[in-house]
Amino acid sequence: MILLAKLTRLQFEINGVPRHVIVDPEKDKLSTVLRRIGLTGVKVGCGIGVCGACTVLINDEPVRSCTKKISSIPEGSRILTIEGIGAPGRLHPLQQAWITYGGIQCGFCTPGFIVSAYGLLLKNPNPTREEVREWFRANHNVCRCTGYKPIVDSVMAAAAVMRGEKTMADITYDFEGEKDIYGSSHPRPTALAKATGLADYGDDLALKMPDGVAYLAPVLGEQIHAKIIDIDVSEAEKMPGVIKVMTAKDVKGANNVDFPAVVPRQRGSGLTIFPVICGEKVVRMGDVVALVAADTRDHAREAAKKVKQTLEPLPVYMTLPEAAMPNAIQLHKNVPNFYMEQPCYKGDAPAVFDDAPIVVEGSFHSQHEPHLPIEPDTVQAYWGIDDMLTVQCKAQAITEAIEGIEQGCGIPKDKIRVIMNTVGGSFGYAVTANTYALVATAVQNLDMPCALTLSWEEFQHMSGKRSATYTNGRLAVDKDGKILAGEYDVGLDHGAYGVVAGKIFNNLVSVGFHGYNIPAFRGLARGVATNHGFNAAYRGFGAPQIYTCTEALIDMAAEAVGMDPWEFRYKNAARPGDLTINSRPYHDYVYPSLLEKIKPYYDEYKKQAEEGRAAGKAMGVGISMGGFIITIGMFDQAEAALELMPDGGITCYDTWEDVGQGGDIGSLTHTVKALEPLGITADRVRLVMNDSKTCPDTGLAAASRCHYMGGNAIINAADQLLEAMKKPDGSWRTYEEMTAEGIPTKYVGHYDQFNIGLPPGLDPNTGMGEKNPTFMYAVNTCLVDVDKATGKAKVLKYTTVADVGVIGNMLSVEGQAYGGLSHSIGFALSEQYNADKKTSNMVGAGIPQIDAVPDDFNVMFIETPRPNGPHGSCGCSECFQSSGHMAVINAINNACGVRVYELPATPDKIKAGLEAKAQGKDIKPAKYYLGNDFEDELDYIKANPM
Ligand code: FES
Ligand code: FES
Repeated sequence: MILLAKLTRLQFEINGVPRHVIVDPEKDKLSTVLRRIGLTGVKVGCGIGVCGACTVLINDEPVRSCTKKISSIPEGSRILTIEGIGAPGRLHPLQQAWITYGGIQCGFCTPGFIVSAYGLLLKNPNPTREEVREWFRANHNVCRCTGYKPIVDSVMAAAAVMRGEKTMADITYDFEGEKDIYGSSHPRPTALAKATGLADYGDDLALKMPDGVAYLAPVLGEQIHAKIIDIDVSEAEKMPGVIKVMTAKDVKGANNVDFPAVVPRQRGSGLTIFPVICGEKVVRMGDVVALVAADTRDHAREAAKKVKQTLEPLPVYMTLPEAAMPNAIQLHKNVPNFYMEQPCYKGDAPAVFDDAPIVVEGSFHSQHEPHLPIEPDTVQAYWGIDDMLTVQCKAQAITEAIEGIEQGCGIPKDKIRVIMNTVGGSFGYAVTANTYALVATAVQNLDMPCALTLSWEEFQHMSGKRSATYTNGRLAVDKDGKILAGEYDVGLDHGAYGVVAGKIFNNLVSVGFHGYNIPAFRGLARGVATNHGFNAAYRGFGAPQIYTCTEALIDMAAEAVGMDPWEFRYKNAARPGDLTINSRPYHDYVYPSLLEKIKPYYDEYKKQAEEGRAAGKAMGVGISMGGFIITIGMFDQAEAALELMPDGGITCYDTWEDVGQGGDIGSLTHTVKALEPLGITADRVRLVMNDSKTCPDTGLAAASRCHYMGGNAIINAADQLLEAMKKPDGSWRTYEEMTAEGIPTKYVGHYDQFNIGLPPGLDPNTGMGEKNPTFMYAVNTCLVDVDKATGKAKVLKYTTVADVGVIGNMLSVEGQAYGGLSHSIGFALSEQYNADKKTSNMVGAGIPQIDAVPDDFNVMFIETPRPNGPHGSCGCSECFQSSGHMAVINAINNACGVRVYELPATPDKIKAGLEAKAQGKDIKPAKYYLGNDFEDELDYIKANPM
C-alpha cells in the first residue's frame, strides 16, 4: 500500500504579500516550498547548509532555506527572497551594484548573497569591509567565481546609496557615455536576470517543464574498483512511481563516451572505455551502474536505494605509483595503465648537471582538485518538435557533448541538439560530463522528457577532476645564480578515464619553467590511468601541476645560492634571444617588465613580513612566475555568424559557451567593436548563443581560447557583412536595400590558425616545436601568516601583474583574475578530492570561504598587443590559475622554513613540518616511482622514434 503524505496549509508573508502554501510538514524544506510556488531565485547548491545559495530572510534574519523545515517556521513569519528585493526597472541598489562592480559571474550564488547583504544593511547601514566579510563568513555565503572582492565592493557601493551618500546613477554604468566598448567595464548582458533571480538555471527549468516528465536518479557503484556480477533491479522496479530502471543493457550505442587520445606517443588502443552505464566493471567512485526513472524525484531516489549490487572487488590503485607498478592489474582492457608519454630535450642537460656547481632537487605532488561550482550538474532532455533529441545542460563544449552522445547512445549527430542552459559554474568539468549521454539514454528508452538534477554529493563523485601529478625534478645553477639546466619527470594521474587528458597532456612539457632562460632541459611527461576521479578540463590544465615542481625548484635554487627569490627570477627571466624548453622563441619577452611592476608590492610585503617576524609571528612573502597557453593547439578553429536584422540591429550567433566567465559580454564586445564603422551600439545587438541547432560551432570554452578564436571569427563575419553592406559611394546599405538587391544579410565568419607561420605542434620524439599560437603571462606575490601552534597558513595580501594582451572587457578580465587566484589559494592550502565522504561536500573538499581569500587583493596589467589576436587580445582566464598557488607555497617556506612538497598545504602538514624542523629534520617525499626508470624510458623513446 502506498502511504500518502498528509498535507497542511500554512500562511506566511512572502515578499510583502500574505501567501498560503500547501505543504508536507514532515518533508518540505523552506527552499522546496519557495521554489515550488515559483520563487526560483532561491537557488539550491549544496542542499546541506554550507554554501548559502538558498539564503532568504525570515523576519529579517538570514536563513539557509535548504536546511529549514517548513513546519519549524511560525505562521505569519515574514519571508524575503531575491524577488522581493527588486526587479528589472526597479532595481535595489544592491542588485545594481552587483551588476556594475562585477559581483556576478555565473550568478548562482548571487541571490543568496544579495539577500544576505540586505539583511546585513538592515542591521548595520554603514559596515566596514571587514564587517561585510565577517557577515558573509558567519552566514556561510560562498562564491566560487568572483574571489569575493567584487562582492564586497558591491555591498559598499550599495550601502553608500542607501545612506544617501551616492545616487543610483553613481553606481550605474554610463552606457550613454561609452566611447569605446573595447577595454571598457561594460556590464555583462546576462547580469540583470541573475541579479534579480529571474535567470533560470537547469533545475529551475526542470521545475517549470510541462507535465509528463520522468525524473531520474543514478545508482552509483558501491565499490571503487570491482567486477559487476549482477545488478538486480527487480525490487526497485516495484517501487511507487517507477517507470523504468535502466542498466548497461539499455544503452543503445557503444556505451562509451571516451575518445582516442591525440598524443601520438601512446601504447595500446589509447582508449579508456568510459561507459554511460557500467555493465562489466566499475573503476572509480561515481561510476553509474543503473538509472531509475520515476514520476517524481522522490520516487526515483527511493527506488534507487533498492537496486541491489553484487560486485567482486578488485585491487584499488588510488595513486599513480601504485597503478604504474609492474604487478598492477590493467584497469582497462586495451590500454596499459601507463600509456601516454611525451619527451622534451633542449641541449645536453645531463652533461650540464654533471658539471654544475649547485643542483637542487625534489619530488612534488599536486592533488586531484575538485572544480567546486555551487550548482551541481543538471540535465533536461526531450524529443523536440523537430524530432531531434534535445539535451539542455551545462555543456562547456557543445560539439564534444554531441559527439559523446552520438557515440555513447548511437544517435546520429544530426539528430542531436545541445542547448547550454544558464550555468552555475563549471571551471572545466562540464567539457566532459557523462550525464549528457546518461539522460539521452533515458529519453531513448522512455520516449518521454527526462530531467536529472544530481545531489551535490553525487555530482562531486560523478564529475571529473583536475588530474594529480607526481614529479621528480632538479635544477642546476652556477654560484652567481644563473640557471644552467632543468629537468623533470612528471607523471599525470588522470584517474579512471583519459577523456581530455590526451588533448592537453603536452602542456606538461610546454609550460614548465615558463618565462625563464633554461639553456638546457630534459623532461618526460607520462600519463597513467588509476582508480581516482577521472581527468577533466580545469582552468590552467597541466600548469598548476608542473609549476608545483618548477616554481619550487626556482625558490630552492635561489635559497641555495643565497639570492632573493625576486632577484633570482629577474636575473633568469627570458630576454629576447632566449628560447623556451621547446627550443622556440618566447612569443613575448615580458617577464622582466612584469617583475619590475610587481617589485614595489613584493618589497612592501617583505617589509611587513619582517615586521611580523620581529613581533614573533611567522610571516613570509612568496613569489611565483608563469603563465599559460591560448587555444587547444594549432589545429584549433572557430566560427561565428552576424546577421543584419530588419530593424537595422545585428544578431550575433555563436557557441561561446558562457559558464560565468563572460561569453555573453565577449560576444557583444567583439560584435560592437568589429562593426564600429556602422556605429552599432551594444543595445542594438542581440545574442543568440549556445544552441547547436541555431549557432555555428565556435568551439569549446576552454584553453582560454574563446576571446581569441571566437573573437577572430566574429571579426571575419563582420568583415564579410561590412563588405556586403558597403555601397560604391562608401555609405552603407540598409536591410531593405540588401534584400532588394538579393544580397545575403547573414555571414558566417571563420578563423583557424593553420597558416599563421608556426610549427604545427610538438615533435613527439623531441618535444621541440610550438604548441600554441600565443601565450599569457603572470607574476604573483603574496604575504602569508602561519599560525605556529596550529600550522594554519593564511594569505593576508596578494598581488598579481599579468599580461593578457589588450583587454576587451576589464570587468570580466578582473573577474577571471580574482576568481582564478582564489582557486589558486584554495589549491595551495585546502582543496582536494579523495573519493571519500569527507571531500564529498564543498567544505570538506576545501572550498575557500571569504575569510580564506584576502580583501587586499590587487591585479595589474601590462597590455602587450598580440599579433594575431583580435584587436591585440589573446585570452585571459587560465594564467590566473597557473602558478599563483606557488606564491603561497613559497611564502609558507619563507614564513616558517617549511617547504610543503605535497599539496595542499593543510595545517597538519605545516605543523608536522614545524615539528620536524624543531628536531633539525625536513619532511620531504622520496623520489616517486613513475614506472620504468627515467633514463631507460628516454632510451626506449630514442630507440623507437615515431
Ligand atoms: S546552503 Fe542551502 S543550498 Fe547550500
Ligand atoms: S558568481 Fe558566485 S558562484 Fe558563480
